[in-house]
Amino acid sequence: VRQAQDLADSCQSLAELEKAIATFDGCSLKKTATNTVFSDGSLNSKIMVIGEVPGVADDRHGKPFVGDNGALLDKMFAAIGLSRDTDLYLTNMLPWRPPGNRTPTAEEIAICRPFVTRHIALAKPDLIILLGGISAKTLLNSDLSITRLRGKWAEYDLAGQKIPACPIYHPSYLIKQPKAKADAWKDLLDIKARIEEMSL
Ligand code: URA
Repeated sequence: VRQAQDLADSCQSLAELEKAIATFDGCSLKKTATNTVFSDGSLNSKIMVIGEVPGVADDRHGKPFVGDNGALLDKMFAAIGLSRDTDLYLTNMLPWRPPGNRTPTAEEIAICRPFVTRHIALAKPDLIILLGGISAKTLLNSDLSITRLRGKWAEYDLAGQKIPACPIYHPSYLIKQPKAKADAWKDLLDIKARIEEMSL
């Protein structure tokens, strides 16, 4: 973790960070992954969306959210007038797909965390959307489940600057549990209202 932290801290731009992650050898997930998945969307966006791990298609293309989860994600945001290409900047908690799509271990998450926190510091978003339990718990330092965290605005502490952060259900959960879409819709409308209020 120390190694990742020092490397991440040394990066002064998103391009440097992307390169640093692609050359980092301290996480075993990299050995089985096809590509390092860094980000997608608009670099000018003030809204940063943080997912979990790349899936099969994402690993193959080297981009986050290009598979089924990504299709639903695009639909969810389109419903509140936001598009990936112009309004959102997307990344994941981990840049490498875990083999067999297993859940990443606590150690893997801890190793990669400094890259995400540096990613946020360099992207400087005004608002953060945390997709699913892994990013919500890790970045808000919480033990609560996503069911408890979702839809409640929290603050992400970026060196003293408090950035509004809203955890919402992950598209993969909504694909398995369509009934949860009602709650996800409420949360999206709330996010839309906040974005309007902040004039983002
Ligand atoms: N694809 C991603 O890039 N991230 C997720 O969290 C799920 C699918």
